[in-house]
Amino acid sequence: MKRRLPDSFYNPITITGAALAVVSFATIIFLTFVEVFQEHAPAYIGIISYVMLPVPLIVGLLLIPVGVWREKRRRAKGLPASRMSFHVDLNNSRQRSAIILFTSATVIFLLFTAYGSYRTFEWTESTEFCGETCHSVMEPEFVAYQNSPHARVKCVDCHVGSGAGWYVRSKLSGAYQVYAVAVNNYPRPIPTPIANLRPAQETCEQCHWPSHFAGEKKYVNTYFKSDEENTRWTIALLMKTGGGSTDRGPTSGIHWHMNIANEVTYVATDSQRQVIPWVRMMNKNTGEVTEYFSTEENISDEDLAKLPKNKMDCIDCHNRPSHIYRPPVRIVDQSMTLGRISTELPNVRAASVSALVQPYSSTAAAMDSIPLLLREYYRDNYPSVAGEKEELIRLASEELKLQYSRNFFPRMKVSWKAYPNNVDHMTNIGCFRCHGGKHVSPGGKAISSDCNTCHTILYQGTAPVPTTMNIAGLEFEHPEDIGDIWKETLCRDCHTGQ
Ligand code: HEC
Ligand code: HEC
Ligand code: HEC
Ligand code: HEC
Ligand code: HEC
Ligand code: HEC
Repeated sequence: MKRRLPDSFYNPITITGAALAVVSFATIIFLTFVEVFQEHAPAYIGIISYVMLPVPLIVGLLLIPVGVWREKRRRAKGLPASRMSFHVDLNNSRQRSAIILFTSATVIFLLFTAYGSYRTFEWTESTEFCGETCHSVMEPEFVAYQNSPHARVKCVDCHVGSGAGWYVRSKLSGAYQVYAVAVNNYPRPIPTPIANLRPAQETCEQCHWPSHFAGEKKYVNTYFKSDEENTRWTIALLMKTGGGSTDRGPTSGIHWHMNIANEVTYVATDSQRQVIPWVRMMNKNTGEVTEYFSTEENISDEDLAKLPKNKMDCIDCHNRPSHIYRPPVRIVDQSMTLGRISTELPNVRAASVSALVQPYSSTAAAMDSIPLLLREYYRDNYPSVAGEKEELIRLASEELKLQYSRNFFPRMKVSWKAYPNNVDHMTNIGCFRCHGGKHVSPGGKAISSDCNTCHTILYQGTAPVPTTMNIAGLEFEHPEDIGDIWKETLCRDCHTGQ
């Protein structure tokens, strides 16, 4: 067979290198096709084709010239000196075709490398990369995200944002995380607040323009009591979201905190920022400053000077915009409101909450036990219902299984208890970290805890649909007769979410 390449190419090192390069390259092309044409290609294909395979490809390509060089040197030792010099002769058809072959291969390779790098970048920015590569670790965040208002927003839009600096920074911390997963020493659950989360101005505010906020938002919340009749209770709230900017008109309401005309700074003594002994409010227009000190959590001047001062930001309230793990009572109330758990089943609210909160060792265990628990509950307490309404009990179990898999992740120890939700004050302390009436300025002014500061109650009662509403706001009527205790006690001291 006629040799198309110079003799020096025919040595074991070069041949091995070429073979390695060709095989890796062909595999990359093959996997790229698989990824493009197969709708549900596994997420880790990207890791193989864009991160792992380029390594043997490059090693192979490097081996080609190394082999040629060694071969030439070896021959040089025994052969006349003229053969040592490497000179290109385009009139020599063998050399010409070798050069053409080598140049075209290099060009194609470079094109694919550029495309490959771009694909690598694109792929490491994808939701699949973040959510599925380390499947079990990110499972809670990924599942909750898919059921959140931000399900169509990419993970990186909140966690990384644009710009090379943050990209590199996130990949560096990601590299450590890959190591932690490999040696299995990552924390469960993953702790928050996330250190070095990119400032909200560069993520949230790229989509939500703070100056825009205006108006009120109506919420109609339906609850069920834990009694035999599953008594329904509705509360319609008008949330004074507000906001806006000073050059567009008066600013007020909840988004007043945002850095429009006011700067709220605080200090927290715990890592989750739930205990706040000191708050400072500054009016940026007048420069007026008011400091508030907690009457319950004393802090010395030295500690105050030492602790980091946090400027209030979107995340100080919206810390669960996407990874929402709902409390069992809210899950069951919603499923009952939607008719997915039938209110015809006596005491179904209490039985459902109880089935959800058992300490299951795994999701699989919960899937097996939930139907058994519910059936057993009716067999023991309401034998006639267990017989007549078997189908409703089965449907309720199915719904509870679905909700369990969306809100509870035993493997990562994640549930509503793992992370506080700051846009709340019923199950979490939330707004009441500062608005509990316990933060007072030296002049005697307290941060407002009046029930009408943040929302007004339009309607409350047992009728499913409000027939009359009061825009000015009604005084809160606690659904269960507990006297006036709710005025003095934090809601969350009784409402644990289960
Ligand atoms: C709408 C913005 C947003 C999107 C989209 C988003 N996250 Fe988050 N994520 C956050 C915020 C805010 C936090 C909590 C930050 C804090 O408390 O410090 C967070 C926290 C986390 C945490 C820490 C554990 C936890 O549950 O709080 C992980 C892990 C995480 N996100 C992964 C992801 C993954 C994976 C995706 C895509 C599947 C994603 N995030 C999409 C905003 C987002
Ligand atoms: C890429 C754009 C984008 C980014 C970045 C983004 N959001 Fe959103 N957000 C949206 C869209 C779109 C909606 C509306 C969803 C809908 O109407 O169903 C939304 C809805 C919301 C809502 C209303 C949720 C509800 O229950 O109706 C809140 C609160 C919110 N975002 C806060 C945040 C916070 C906090 C961040 C930063 C951590 C953030 N968003 C980042 C696009 C974004
Ligand atoms: C003081 C706490 C607080 C801060 C700080 C805050 N928000 Fe809100 N935000 C709320 C509350 C409370 C609501 C209304 C209840 C809800 O939607 O859960 C709300 C509602 C929203 C909504 C939904 C509005 C609608 O009409 O549907 C968006 C979007 C939003 N916030 C984005 C942001 C962004 C972006 C930032 C940062 C610039 C921010 N918020 C800062 C408490 C806050
Ligand atoms: C870190 C402390 C802190 C937290 C947490 C906090 N606030 Fe505030 N809030 C303040 C301060 C300080 C003021 C201004 C008090 C004053 O008038 O000097 C204020 C004022 C307000 C006002 C009145 C604005 C106006 O129009 O005058 C509303 C409404 C409000 N907060 C809603 C909320 C809601 C809703 C939450 C929870 C989602 C919340 N706040 C959480 C510190 C906080
Ligand atoms: C500092 C602001 C603020 C004050 C003061 C406040 N609330 Fe709220 N309230 C909120 C926010 C924020 C929510 C949660 C909205 C959401 O679900 O997104 C809420 C929710 C509620 C809910 C519905 C609870 C749920 O999770 O289903 C009730 C009921 C309620 N508030 C009653 C009261 C009563 C009674 C008072 C007076 C003791 C009060 N609130 C004072 C901000 C406030
Ligand atoms: C002293 C304890 C206590 C305090 C404090 C308290 N509640 Fe309740 N609340 C109860 C009990 C008990 C029920 C009945 C629970 C049931 O039937 O499952 C109840 C029921 C409710 C319900 C009906 C839905 C449900 O989850 O059961 C709402 C809504 C509610 N409370 C709101 C509030 C709010 C808002 C506050 C704070 C302003 C508050 N509660 C403070 C004890 C309390």
